[in-house]
Formats: sequence, structure tokens, C-alpha cells
Amino acid sequence: MNSASPPCTTVDQLATPAALVDLDVMHANLARVAEYATGHGLALRPHAKTHKAPGLAAEQRRLGAVGVTVATAPEAAVMAGAVDDVLVAYPPVDPGRIARLMALPPSVRLTVALDSEPALDRLSAAAAAAGRVVGVLVELDLGMHRTGVQTPADALALAHLARRLEPLEYRGVMFYPGHIRQHVDQQLADIERLGSELDGYLDALAAAQLPAQIVSGGSTPTLFHSHRLPRQTEIRPGTYIFNDRTTAAIGACAWRDCAYSVLATVISTAVPGQAVVDAGSKALNREDIRGAVDAPGYGALRDRPEVFVKAMSEEHGLLCLGGTDWQPRVGERVRIVPNHVCISVNLHPRIHGVRGDSIAHSWEVAARGWA
Ligand SMILES: Cc1ncc(COP(=O)(O)O)c(C=O)c1O
Repeated sequence: MNSASPPCTTVDQLATPAALVDLDVMHANLARVAEYATGHGLALRPHAKTHKAPGLAAEQRRLGAVGVTVATAPEAAVMAGAVDDVLVAYPPVDPGRIARLMALPPSVRLTVALDSEPALDRLSAAAAAAGRVVGVLVELDLGMHRTGVQTPADALALAHLARRLEPLEYRGVMFYPGHIRQHVDQQLADIERLGSELDGYLDALAAAQLPAQIVSGGSTPTLFHSHRLPRQTEIRPGTYIFNDRTTAAIGACAWRDCAYSVLATVISTAVPGQAVVDAGSKALNREDIRGAVDAPGYGALRDRPEVFVKAMSEEHGLLCLGGTDWQPRVGERVRIVPNHVCISVNLHPRIHGVRGDSIAHSWEVAARGWA
């Protein structure tokens, strides 16, 4: 695994707040999903937005991933140093973004998902100027209502154009089932609905001699239902490498599968009924998941999940002590599993890979931000 020498060798030596990853849990997560994908004949193309660390993308590749998925230009640039097959699952319309994609090493197999003619035109002009072949996936909106074409006729038009515009190469379709975030036991009806809509698109493309070689979908909440969409060829989960409080709350992983936590120090117990730690919204992020699951607050203690972060300032996290007999002391350290791990990782310069109290690896979160 690529990693820099850690400046500290034990967790006690780290300044707080700090981002920790339990390496054994992470490896079990990676292995479980690699095995699931292989077992169901699905290509695995993890989304690197969760870890933003090329060493971890290389590890995913070593375990059988066909390549990596990215959203931003820095993610593409950084990941291209570790993995030679990159899908940009985000329409590159801004000229600066397109230029940075064209500047990726020529050895990188580049594929881009998009949903409009202007995006296609810009990409084809830039690819021609750069003399590089770029694969195109037509993005379909199958219920997320964020991006993606709205009808099979629109998909056909874009696929036709992608095939005509050299040096682009039409490769298939992409969708993101990000609207399916309820408990895994309650997802089947939505997945079935999505599957029949997907069939409509794929049948129309095949009938027009534009069959989709790649049908790219998948997410962490729906991960272990992926085989229920038999025409899907590839999945792009991101969060699964670490998991988080949301993933556990919807039953897409067990609590013990949460590999990531923010190490924090108790700085005050002065106000009754709460303890305050030095990890606030700038270390954890303020994502509220009550719309999807019955879990109040912004994160919970890894070792005492009944203790949750009930409120935050930028540098303060207020732990609710209402449901516990734990009596925290000032100076005590805790590990907090955030609601949404991807945003928390993006707030930290490094991730420390730990086994017990030892730091075994330390990765720079190299693709943070946009610069
Ligand atoms: C286009 C796309 N694909 C895949 C993913 C991965 O989703 P998850 O982190 O739930 O696995 C995301 C998440 O934002 C996404 O936007």
C-alpha cells in the first residue's frame, strides 16, 4: 500500500481532532464487496470521493476493482497517478475542468458520463485538440432527479451523437440510484421500478443499434441489491470502504463495519447532561439524516453508539449523555463515527490507518477541494 511514514506511531500522540481508519475493518469492507461483485459478475469501480487518497484507490484496484470513479478534476488528476482507468461520473462543462481531464496521462483510459449536447460538443472539441480517445456514457435519470436524460429518445439522440463525434467513443449508460436511501429491507419496490425503467432505455438503445456495453450504476445503500438489476455491468459504491452512521442505520452495514472515526478530546463537562469535544462541524460535518432514518444528531461514539452528537459549533461537538451511564472526564478521548463519512474525510488533511492504538499507515487526503 502506498503511504507516507506516519509522523506519530500511536493514536495517543495524535493531536485532536484527527481522522482515523481501523485498517482491519476497512480491509474486511473492501474484501466483502470485491467478493460480492466477483460473485455476481459485476465490475467494481469504486467512487474515490469517499477517501480521496490514491493509495486507497490502488488498494481497491489490487483487490479487483476495474478502475476508479471520480467527480472532480483534482480527484481525476490524483487518482490517475495510481489507477489507469478513470470514469468521471460528473458532466465536465466548465472549460477548466475539461482541460484538466485532457491533461491526464495518455495511458489513462478515460470515460466521461454526461447528459447534454453542449457537454458532448465541448468534450469532443477538447478531445480532438488533445488527440485523445474519450469514452462516453449517457447519464440516465432513473429517479434521483439530479442529472441525467429524461427519456429514451433523449438517450438515443445523445448516444448517436457520441458515436458520430470523433475521437469520442460511445460506451454505454450510467445512472446513480442516490434516491434509494431507506432501510435495505424497504428498497425492493424502488429497485424493481428502477430496473424496469432501465430496461426501457436499454431496449431502445439496442433496437437503434446502440447497445450499451457498459451499464454503470450502484451505491453503498443499495450495494447488496445490485444483482437484482441483471443488466447492470458495473457498480460504483464509494462509502462502503469506510461506512458511516447512515450506512449502519439503514442496515447496509453493521455498526462494527464502520471503519472511520474522528478522534476527539473531551474539553468540558461543565454543563449538566452533556460533554463537549473538540470536534465540531469543521471535523465531522453537519449532515442531518433524520429524513432517512430515526437517528438524531450528527454522529455517535464508536464505542458507545447510544451517545450521539446532539449539536455542534464549528469547533465544539456537544455529546448527549441522556441515554448512557458513561461519565466522561475532561481530557478523555473518544472516537466519533460521523453521519456522512465522505464529507468528514474531505475536512481532514490526513487519514491515519490504525490497528488498536498503533498507527500503521497515514495517507494524505490528496484530492481534497478543487485546486
Ligand atoms: C455519480 C455517483 N456514483 C456513485 C456514488 C457513490 O455513492 P455511495 O457513496 O453511496 O456509495 C455517488 C455518490 O455521491 C455518485 O454521486
